[in-house]
Amino acid sequence: MKHRFVAIGLALAATLAAACTQGGSGRQSAAVEACRVERLRLQPAAASDIGSLGTPPDHLTPTEVAATAACLAPALDAVLASAQDPVLRGAETWAPMSRAYRGSEHGMFLQVYANEAAAASYRRYEQGAAIPLGGTVLKRSFRVAADGKAEPYALFVMERMPQGFSPDTNDWRFALIGPDGRLVGATNGPDDAKVRYCASCHATARRQDFLLFVPPGLRL
Ligand code: HEC
Repeated sequence: MKHRFVAIGLALAATLAAACTQGGSGRQSAAVEACRVERLRLQPAAASDIGSLGTPPDHLTPTEVAATAACLAPALDAVLASAQDPVLRGAETWAPMSRAYRGSEHGMFLQVYANEAAAASYRRYEQGAAIPLGGTVLKRSFRVAADGKAEPYALFVMERMPQGFSPDTNDWRFALIGPDGRLVGATNGPDDAKVRYCASCHATARRQDFLLFVPPGLRL
């Protein structure tokens, strides 16, 4: 049984890879067009509107999630490149801290990255090592519609700021950036109110410096 599952998964990975190559040229739109979980293609079209925040399919296999993330990689990099927040300059090269996975709270597929200043401390997880000034943790995301079509989504950022920057957020600057690269809001910045909900949830991990961490099985 398990073997069959893996075989199906591999076939899907190959299909996605082929579709991605057909998309060609590395242009963002081409890559986006091409990335789809083939198994879901025949699902009702009405559910395929990924412009509206729907519940992503929660039954993708880990192989399907990984293959979709791989297919979308150029498009996800394009989102980073278009991000107006200077803290994300060069973020295409940051080290992954997790595999791609279905988020429990963010309602989409996610992958966590950290910049050089943050990576070593972040990797100590619950052991707790304060992330130094300038350390930044980034969550990239994508969504998969009911019919399998996959598309990059928002960027979630936590940037360590100097002491006193924002006691309410443990001196983290939370930032939310749309898939078009526009800053939706940032702590102590434009549209601060739009990111207050970030800290209220992350504050549940006060003893871990507001970091919530992916489950151990997803860590890299
Ligand atoms: C309802 C709870 C909740 C809200 C609201 C929330 N998050 Fe998170 N966040 C989590 C959880 C849980 C994790 C751990 C990983 C996971 O399950 O996806 C996480 C992980 C992260 C991480 C990776 C660092 C870490 O904690 O391990 C970043 C960066 C992040 N969130 C940014 C944001 C930003 C920016 C916002 C607001 C725009 C936000 N989050 C809103 C629950 C939340």
